[in-house]
Parts: sequence; C-alpha cells; structure tokens
Amino acid sequence: MRSNGMRVLGLYGMGGIGKTTLAKAFFNRIIVDFEHRSFISSVREVSSKDEGLISLRNRIISDISSQAVVGNDISAFRRAVSENRALIILDDVDDVKQLDTLIGKREWFHEGSRILVTSRDTRALPETHVNVLYEVQILDDSESLELFCYHAMRRKKPAGETFLKLSKEIVSLTARLPLALEVFGSMLFGKRREKEWVDAVDKLKLIRPGNLQEVLQISYEALDKQEKCVFLDIACLFVQMSMKREDVIDVLRGCGFKGEIAIAVLREKCLIKIREDETIWMHDQIRDTGRQIVVYEDLDDPGMRSRLWDRSEILNVLRNLKVRILIKAFQFEYKFFLCVCVI
Ligand SMILES: Nc1ncnc2c1ncn2[C@@H]1O[C@H](COP(=O)(O)OP(=O)(O)O)[C@@H](O)[C@H]1O
Ligand SMILES: [Mg+2]
Repeated sequence: MRSNGMRVLGLYGMGGIGKTTLAKAFFNRIIVDFEHRSFISSVREVSSKDEGLISLRNRIISDISSQAVVGNDISAFRRAVSENRALIILDDVDDVKQLDTLIGKREWFHEGSRILVTSRDTRALPETHVNVLYEVQILDDSESLELFCYHAMRRKKPAGETFLKLSKEIVSLTARLPLALEVFGSMLFGKRREKEWVDAVDKLKLIRPGNLQEVLQISYEALDKQEKCVFLDIACLFVQMSMKREDVIDVLRGCGFKGEIAIAVLREKCLIKIREDETIWMHDQIRDTGRQIVVYEDLDDPGMRSRLWDRSEILNVLRNLKVRILIKAFQFEYKFFLCVCVI
C-alpha cells in the first residue's frame, strides 16, 4: 500500500479456498483510503455472455467516475482511470483477455491506484498485468476447527472430548478447505447424537481425501427428495438467471413444491445464500456439483436428463426431438396405411 505507482495484486488458489472472502475483506479494510472504487464480482461468468466484458468495463467507468457509458468506449475508460485514483477488485477471472479489457495497460491508471484480481489459474494473471502474485493459504488447524465448529455448533470449540476428536477428524478429512468446512459443518448443525457424527465421519472416510465435489455430494445426499429437486433446479436453472427468492418460490409453487421451506433448509445448510437484493446465489463449486449430478443421470444423451441449461445442448435436444417426432409420425402413418390395406 505504501509503494508509489499503480499496483496490481493477483490472488490465486483453488475454488472454495477463500479468494472472494479475502478480496472482500481487503476491499473493506482499505476502502476508506479511496474515494473512487469498484468491486466486480464473477468476471468469468459475466464475460461468457454477449457483451459481458464491455458491460463490466462500463460498470467500472460509472463506479469510479459516475459517468454512464453505453457500448464499447475505450477512451471513456482511459479517461476515467487516468483521472481518478481508484481501487478496483476483479473477482474470479479465468482468462487474460478479461484483463486486457478490464485493465488494459497499467500506464493508463492514475498514480496510487490499486487493483486486486482473483483467479484459480495463475495463467490468467500474467506479469504484463499483475505486479505481485499471492497464493491464498489454506486455514491453519485451529482456524479450520473454529470455522467448522461455528457452522456445526455456533461456538468456537466443541463441548466434550468426543466431539472435539470427531471435529478434528472432519477438519482433517476435508483438507481444511473453508467451503467444505462450512457446508459439512452446516449439515451437522442441530445433530447432537454421537452416532450421527460418527456416521458422517464414516462417509467422509469413503471419499478421496479433500475432494470438494464429493464432500458437497454427501451434503446433497442428506437432503430430502423435495429439497434435492429444488437444489438441482437452483443449480441448473435459477442461479444463472439471478432470480429473486420470491420469484423462485413462485415458480416452485407452480410445480407443486413448498419452495419457501426448501429454500430455508438449503440456506441453513449453506448450499445457497441470499444476496442483499434478495437474489439467490450459489457458490460455483456447489452449482457445478449440482450440474454434475444431473449430467450423470445420462452421460450420453442430454435428452434423457431432468434439466438442461446449455443453449446449444437445448437446441440439439429439440432438433433430435423433432426428428423423433417425424419418425414416429411416419411409423404411425405407415401402420395406418397397412391397416387400411388389410381392411
Ligand atoms: N478466512 C475465512 N474465514 C471464514 N470463512 C471463510 C474464510 N475463507 C473462506 N470462507 C468461507 O468459505 C466459503 C468459500 O470461500 P470463497 O471466498 O467463496 O472461496 P473462493 O472465492 O476461493 O472460491 C465462503 O462461503 C466463505 O464464507
Ligand atoms: Mg470466489
């Protein structure tokens, strides 16, 4: 923070390790020193949409210079970043092209500006854009135990030796990954019998150590039938539409589900979060676990899966469906023709 010039810091680490959490904490801590700031979430996801990157760059312009811009206006961006000493967070970047658009050249920026970029992949954080790289560290033993106990018991340490031993075992089997600790801890919240905890530890022992997807899958399996269905609907469909809780509940009610209760349960289990603007949010690792469950319903034929979310896959399935309907119609007409001949 004390160095001169413009600095770009890159945070990297696997999904669920705490990059976004750290970026938010960093942003909140130094926000007072910056009059002009912008926090851009989910760069990877937004940039996969048409004009997504340009809309993000326009958000940066309006955040730091209060100027509304439409369309691709690079000179407005250069003006905004050169005139204002800014703090910018770019969360979850996965391609250097995103930095080409959202940073451009470091020389364009006002003296003293700071940018923090997070990514799972160091290849998305090259030296041309990023001055300093930092690998996000896994929590240490006591921090992980504290995080797990907070979610499983709403306290810092378990009461009694038995639960302490079981908690330590869970922390070690989840490889101290914050997202795994949070979800697995929340799954055990309210469970007071030792047997239930021992069963949970046994399930963890069956998976590959520290495999996040498999830990998340255990939590999914612990849901009831309706909660599972709502979880998959959110993972595959609602989350990418950034739908508000009330609207999701409305759609679910139309399908005969008690959405209100299911959403409350999924929230308690930390499988979803509700943003301040009431939209439903799911960590991308949890979303991918849900989508993988649906893909595994039929690996070869997307048309046999319960949900489709990819545009090209949907079009393919519809095209195949049209062909199937035509074949069926032809078969029907042929049988009808045979019947008429017989009569
Ligand atoms: N240092 C931490 N203290 C408490 N909770 C944490 C910490 N780091 C991460 N978490 C929790 O773990 C989950 C995953 O963290 P997140 O920052 O979203 O990971 P990433 O961005 O690396 O995928 C979050 O829900 C967050 O609350
Ligand atoms: Mg993140």
